[in-house]
Amino acid sequence: MKIPVNTGRPYTVTVERGALDQVGPLAAQLKRSGAKALLVSDSNVAPLYGDRVEASLKTAGFQTRRFVFPAGEEHKRLETVMDIYRALAEGGFTRTDFLVALGGGVAGDMGGFAAATFLRGMDFIQVPTSLVAQADASVGGKTGVDLSFGKNLVGAFHQPIAVVSDPEALSTLPQRYVNDGLGEVIKHGCIADPALFEALEEGAVLEDWENVVARSVAIKRDFVEADTRDTGRRMILNFGHTCGHALEKLHRFQGLSHGEAVGAGMLLACRAGEKLGVTAPGTGERLRRVLERYGLPTEPGFSVREIVEATALDKKSDGETVRFILIKDIGESLIRPMTREELLEALE
Ligand SMILES: NC(=O)c1ccc[n+]([C@@H]2O[C@H](COP(=O)([O-])OP(=O)(O)OC[C@H]3O[C@@H](n4cnc5c(N)ncnc54)[C@H](O)[C@@H]3O)[C@@H](O)[C@H]2O)c1
Ligand SMILES: [Zn+2]
Repeated sequence: MKIPVNTGRPYTVTVERGALDQVGPLAAQLKRSGAKALLVSDSNVAPLYGDRVEASLKTAGFQTRRFVFPAGEEHKRLETVMDIYRALAEGGFTRTDFLVALGGGVAGDMGGFAAATFLRGMDFIQVPTSLVAQADASVGGKTGVDLSFGKNLVGAFHQPIAVVSDPEALSTLPQRYVNDGLGEVIKHGCIADPALFEALEEGAVLEDWENVVARSVAIKRDFVEADTRDTGRRMILNFGHTCGHALEKLHRFQGLSHGEAVGAGMLLACRAGEKLGVTAPGTGERLRRVLERYGLPTEPGFSVREIVEATALDKKSDGETVRFILIKDIGESLIRPMTREELLEALE
């Protein structure tokens, strides 16, 4: 499946079984033969898929180099970016060359950031291999790294020239990362796609990753295209994230994955919405059953007051008002500005 994305510079997301072998041919449609490609990947993914991707680039006429960093969020930092710059400089890369980020969201965010900043911007191709990366991080153009005092604090908007997603790569992804990614997929169903949500209710998604990834990409694309700089409608993608981020903070970013936190956050939002008379009665219960089915927690584990207090420092909040995302029903979402007091009342 080919999904066109029309942000700043348009590009195509290819979602196809076996697409890992298509990276070279797809790059050949965009870059001149003989250009250099730096393959940036982590220590788990490089041994699994690095050779295939590199071989396909070589066969398509590109010169390749490989940069492998130790897997894990703790390596999504400026020190690793510095090492990528070094590999680019030592390899004599110029602005006509390109970078290929192969791996999960960490490889994509950090490889993308290195590409956004080296020589003030070079092309990059994203080859996402985790569900989070395929269904969420590969669309939207946000790149960046963490600082010791906060996640994703340094970054840039930089669109890839192509995204190549191979759903077959998900077969080696550890289960907990599959569940983590399903948090965002469930979110996409909730905010915009009743059919995707029903497929999740029936369990049909587990046999059809290609469709799940493609639908997720199309939904995120629709919100991002409407608002590439993340100021208006794109906020809807934040469904479940106000409370979700608060929960991650309360858990000190340990023991609770982002997808799990978003799941619990969406459930809180549904319960608040039902109480406010905005969300159709029974929606929270449908969501709870889906979260349970995919092993995502349904109890936040903290009091409502603690959660609301922890939303105070959210990047997406401005002063005392929270732009809270609610759904009217599965597939229909809206932005509702609320004070923290109102939020507390609705959640209690
Ligand atoms: N840019 C965005 O819009 C955006 C959106 C969502 C998340 N993110 C970022 O993405 C990151 C989380 O993504 P993630 O969960 O993919 O993290 P990750 O890149 O650390 O991948 C998770 C783990 O799975 C492994 N892995 C990946 N693909 C595999 C495969 N096919 N087979 C076996 N193992 C595989 C990785 O080595 C890692 O250990 C966070 O840093 C987050 O901030 C960015
Ligand atoms: Zn998220």
